[in-house]
Amino acid sequence: MNKNFYITTPIYYPSAKPHMGHAYSSIIADFFARFKRMDGFNVFFLTGTDEHGLKIQRAAEQKGLETLKFCDELSKTFKELSKTLNLSNTDFIRTTEQRHQKSVQSLWNQLKENDNIYLSKYSGWYSVSDEAFYNDDEIEEIDDKKIAISSKSIVEWVDEESYFFRLSKWEKPLLDFYEKNPNFISPESRKNEVISFVKNGLKDLSVSRKSFSWGIKVPNDKNHVIYVWLDALTNYISALNYPNKSNDLFKKFWPASIHLIGKDILRFHAIYWPAFLLAAKIEPPKKVYGHGWILSNDEKMSKSKGNILDPLEIIEKYGLDPLRYYLIKEVSFGNDGNISQQRLEDCINSDLANNFGNLCQRVTAFAIKNCKSKIPIKIKFNKDDQKILNNYIENLNNIRIEIDNQNINFYINFIVNSLFEANKYFNDQEPWKKKNDHERLDTIVYTTLEIVRKISILLYPIIPESSLKALKIFDLTEEDIDFNSIGNNNFLKKGNLIKKIDILFNKIEKKND
Ligand code: MSP
Repeated sequence: MNKNFYITTPIYYPSAKPHMGHAYSSIIADFFARFKRMDGFNVFFLTGTDEHGLKIQRAAEQKGLETLKFCDELSKTFKELSKTLNLSNTDFIRTTEQRHQKSVQSLWNQLKENDNIYLSKYSGWYSVSDEAFYNDDEIEEIDDKKIAISSKSIVEWVDEESYFFRLSKWEKPLLDFYEKNPNFISPESRKNEVISFVKNGLKDLSVSRKSFSWGIKVPNDKNHVIYVWLDALTNYISALNYPNKSNDLFKKFWPASIHLIGKDILRFHAIYWPAFLLAAKIEPPKKVYGHGWILSNDEKMSKSKGNILDPLEIIEKYGLDPLRYYLIKEVSFGNDGNISQQRLEDCINSDLANNFGNLCQRVTAFAIKNCKSKIPIKIKFNKDDQKILNNYIENLNNIRIEIDNQNINFYINFIVNSLFEANKYFNDQEPWKKKNDHERLDTIVYTTLEIVRKISILLYPIIPESSLKALKIFDLTEEDIDFNSIGNNNFLKKGNLIKKIDILFNKIEKKND
């Protein structure tokens, strides 16, 4: 089995500060990266910033800053956000880096050599905000302004010499590719959208601009810069040292296991990117997953709408893990989801403080008092104990399969149910009434501690910091995190000391409580 796993986030435009939508893509990618890592995979997890194009050039001009300096500053805030979000990324790529420019120019040369690029003239609509070309039928007029129907962003007319990529030639090979790789576009609901777009006919794509200069130069034609999407998409292979395809990173991690993106940029990833790669004789990625949007009052968050929720403010107020948990649990993965502070607070109180935090505190306090602070030694599982413990063994493979289908909802439901069952088990078994039957008391404590360990491991990809705090009860560290070990019902070393831990999550006092 191939035990390498390569996951990417979109690379973000540093045209403004990061917002919750960016945090969402990154947190979800981190969830998968951490899960795969704890399941024994070599994981390469890439994120970064997309720094070329007219959008960035104009944003810098507005601030009166030199473009690269502007990018340096904002890219830094994205890099810092990766740390604040506790992302376990392997690399952070900037498209202004040398390694990337070299890679993009090589890909261009490759496409040119294969006769996939030619010089002509582009006349049509362009949205700077989306950095995308639109056909006439994709445009509407509102209040005397031409806007793209799909994104509602303003378009402008472009009339200039341009290099073109022979996208039309790749229509049939793309359709064949989708057919042979039915999981390439996920979720399923988004697949049809893409396929019917391709079936409607693909026009050759303008892949260079002449009227501005902030970009990677077209090799042998200094008057043109390479279209920002051809530039940006290539980041996924630049980070693996393309054009050197025989280096270790490329050999191990390409094709990518999954490009995780928002649904707004599916067309670029599911049509243009595989077409460029097929044309350059490089294998396309295995999967492109287009997740939904985080909505604030039912609208996509964006700078122009002024409805941005700042992840840093939320983290400052509630802490990082509650935010990670909330986004992963409450936004049904693949769909759009509204977020609110009210629901976030409910989530902290019910799931994190009451269910998980309380279970950890209760069983450790009980064990410290009644089992001399040690993992019980003499234990004998009965049917009830076995039933609750074996549920993890029985679901081990299911969980793997569901994660490979990006079914985060399954994963989180499994955890929420497990927490409920664990609290119920401890209550129903009433160990405090078993002081005359120490073997039974010890077995209940051991079973519950084992469950705390298993759930803490399952929570690791979601709330890594809190999971590690909980595992300190058993003196376990990040190195001990192994998904497979949740299938072991006798993992905890009998006789080892149990450590008291600090409260994991503080309950939020609510005004109407
Ligand atoms: N630079 C391009 C991507 C190039 S990838 C080769 C880009 N950047 S972006 O900064 O505008 O947005 C990147 C991603 O942020 C979106 O695709 C999406 O994943 C995420 N989100 C931005 N706003 C979002 C929401 N409101 N909700 C959820 N995610 C959204 O596009």
